[in-house]
Amino acid sequence: MGWLFYFWSMTGKPIGVFDSGYGGLTILKELVSKLPQYDYLYLGDNARAPYGTRSFYAVYHYTLQCVKWFFKQGCPLVILACNTASAKALRTIQQNDLPAIDPEKRVLGVIRPTAEIIGNYTKTNIIGILGTNGTVQSDSYPIEIKKFFPGVKVFQQACPLWVPLVESNEYDTEGADYFIKKDIDNLISQSKDIDTVLLACTHYPLLLKKIRHFAPERINIIAQGEIIAESLKDYLIRHPEIEQNCSKGGMVDLYTTDSTEDFDRHSSVFFGKGLKSKHINVE
Ligand code: DGL
Repeated sequence: MGWLFYFWSMTGKPIGVFDSGYGGLTILKELVSKLPQYDYLYLGDNARAPYGTRSFYAVYHYTLQCVKWFFKQGCPLVILACNTASAKALRTIQQNDLPAIDPEKRVLGVIRPTAEIIGNYTKTNIIGILGTNGTVQSDSYPIEIKKFFPGVKVFQQACPLWVPLVESNEYDTEGADYFIKKDIDNLISQSKDIDTVLLACTHYPLLLKKIRHFAPERINIIAQGEIIAESLKDYLIRHPEIEQNCSKGGMVDLYTTDSTEDFDRHSSVFFGKGLKSKHINVE
């Protein structure tokens, strides 16, 4: 396996998938299921998660370090499968850094592709957004959704403890229930006509069972995985010059900046126990 990995690492041009931690695995799973022909390289910056409560500069600086790491591994395209990084770092990286690093490379986020479609799910034209502090405070979702669905009203609720609960394996506890219920109640109390709630953080689908339990039954809960996978499929059709650069060996490689044991426990939920992560430092 060693020489095979060496050969692949010298020739492979995987699609990079980045998240602050485990959450992006919910996106990676859908990418692998809808676009299995490509190679994927996943990096979770678990050592510095959560990003959601960090400053603009910290999120930008950490994300840029990780994006540069992906480029060093040969990735022609990196998906920021992290709403917080998409909200706080994507634009600066696209506009200021990419032209200097390599104008042929691409970095894409998850907010715009979600905003392009989320309005189709609501009948009342009232949507609720659950996200990290960073995503909610950036107002990225209300701004982007307005561009595609001007008639849709958006209410937001930050859930600052949800990611720490997932990252610390505490999400299946009564303590977690308290915070999950409280944030859902706060969102729903903003408008009784919310009929669609977007999980605008890649970690939240891991709490889906509990979210469904505490949300009123009439509410449609939307996770982003399938939306992002469909959007990437469409992007690669529209950009054959990028698509041709992506290697197609069906390989998935996982990296974390923190403990591989913890990472493997989380990733086995999505990819079984056979896939072992590796540790790296990006600093
Ligand atoms: N999972 C990330 C997101 O989609 C960020 C979580 C965090 O690190 O706070 O927003």
